[in-house]
Amino acid sequence: MVSNAGLALAVALAPASMLACLAAARRRADGQAITAGLPLPVLAALALAAAIGVVALGWQRTQGAPGLLGSRLGHLALAAAALLLLAGLAAAWLHSRAPERAARAEWRRAGATLLGTMALLAALLAVAIAWQSDEALAIAHWPFAWRYDADLPVSGHTWRRLWLALGLTLVALALLTAALFARRGRLVLLTAAAGLLASASWPAPRLLLTEATHTSYQRSPLVFSDDNLLRGARLYQAHCAACHGVRADGRGVLAAALPAWPSVLGAALFDNRLEGELHARLAREGAAHGGAVAPGKALSPDQVWLVLDYLRVQAYGVSGGAGMPAIPAPVVALACRDGRAVTLSELRGLPVRVAAFRPDAPPEPLDPRLLTVALTRGGTPAAEADCVAASEAAWEAYALAAGVAPADLAGAQFMVDRRGWLRARRLPGAAPAWTSADNVCGPGGRMENTSAQGLGALLQAMDRSPIDIPDTRRRH
Ligand code: HEC
Repeated sequence: MVSNAGLALAVALAPASMLACLAAARRRADGQAITAGLPLPVLAALALAAAIGVVALGWQRTQGAPGLLGSRLGHLALAAAALLLLAGLAAAWLHSRAPERAARAEWRRAGATLLGTMALLAALLAVAIAWQSDEALAIAHWPFAWRYDADLPVSGHTWRRLWLALGLTLVALALLTAALFARRGRLVLLTAAAGLLASASWPAPRLLLTEATHTSYQRSPLVFSDDNLLRGARLYQAHCAACHGVRADGRGVLAAALPAWPSVLGAALFDNRLEGELHARLAREGAAHGGAVAPGKALSPDQVWLVLDYLRVQAYGVSGGAGMPAIPAPVVALACRDGRAVTLSELRGLPVRVAAFRPDAPPEPLDPRLLTVALTRGGTPAAEADCVAASEAAWEAYALAAGVAPADLAGAQFMVDRRGWLRARRLPGAAPAWTSADNVCGPGGRMENTSAQGLGALLQAMDRSPIDIPDTRRRH
């Protein structure tokens, strides 16, 4: 994956060479900076190519349009790309005007100053990008009222209309750019561009987009830790269970008396709705909710995130995760063999097997390909484990992920990938090997059953399809 430094380097490359060019041109004795000393067409091509490259790399770094349009890092990358684009256009324009005006020294100086300033600003943006922390990837604000939803059924006819409108608009933009540089026939070009723009008929947004809020792509900033999940569980039981049911199955004691039946808050909810939209729905002050006040009235924004995180792990527990977006492995405090106490999130880099210790189970051999964490619930530390999580909270959080009561968790195992996502589980009483039925690995953050047989195949499957949801949660 692209790092901040890689992106910053890409941003810095073009302005640095532009500044070098300008500096070289200044030193020329004849002072023909703009015409003779500066290869303006080369500068223009360089800046335009760099602008495209920065958008492509920024897209990768911020993992798609939401990140590029909604996060601080994305905004910086877009600003840098826009600046480079402007610098490219300015260089091209100077080149197109050079023959008649280049004789004037002040015109040359103004051109060089303009390009130099733009290059300098772009270089500053590169420095700013290199300095950003991972939190700059957090999506603060989605700027549109609509968003793309891959699950929306879009007809071929709508796609064709979209491509046609897009093509016409691109041609119109090309004509507008040509008009900027044209010496003759500018009016014709402008008229043609306006005609094309007017004839582009875009399909209605609702045919290919779903409604979005500015929080659509926001994610919980809170650690997915055992303590937080249990806190979320308590909040849920206190504020929601009466209507939505103790197990979030929509069968609360008050359900039948309500004007509308409360929703099932399971995997399907997270499959169809983005976390940020659910958060907005719950936190919106005063919005009607099942005939009662909005739950957000009683809960703070962070408490709503706690409840949603709890509901996600609960949905994973019930469904095994298939079809819903991936969840992180609950982060628990560990005591490790080498004496260092760490948390699960600090073990990233190696796959981790989390096993709920059962005294009578035959010891499973340690495997050099992964670390083993034993959940012991304060009991006898397991001999065969790299780390031990002894707290009751850790045990209860993994019981949620297993979808069983804490008393029935002993013997369950979970597989956590190198980035800390929960990728597979083996419930107590299941076959003694990892088989395809336990494996819920899938690319793009959406979990799907894949057919991997055995531990080796599972580890390979996890590495082959890493989950690319950016992790912008606080570290502790
Ligand atoms: C007074 C009963 C009641 C309480 C309390 C309640 N809900 Fe609901 N909830 C409903 C009903 C009824 C619906 C379905 C109708 C609707 O969407 O308004 C619903 C819908 C939802 C939805 C689906 C919204 C959608 O747009 O699909 C979510 C998510 C939800 N509730 C979460 C919660 C959470 C979390 C809490 C606790 C913080 C909570 N509810 C508390 C009755 C309740």
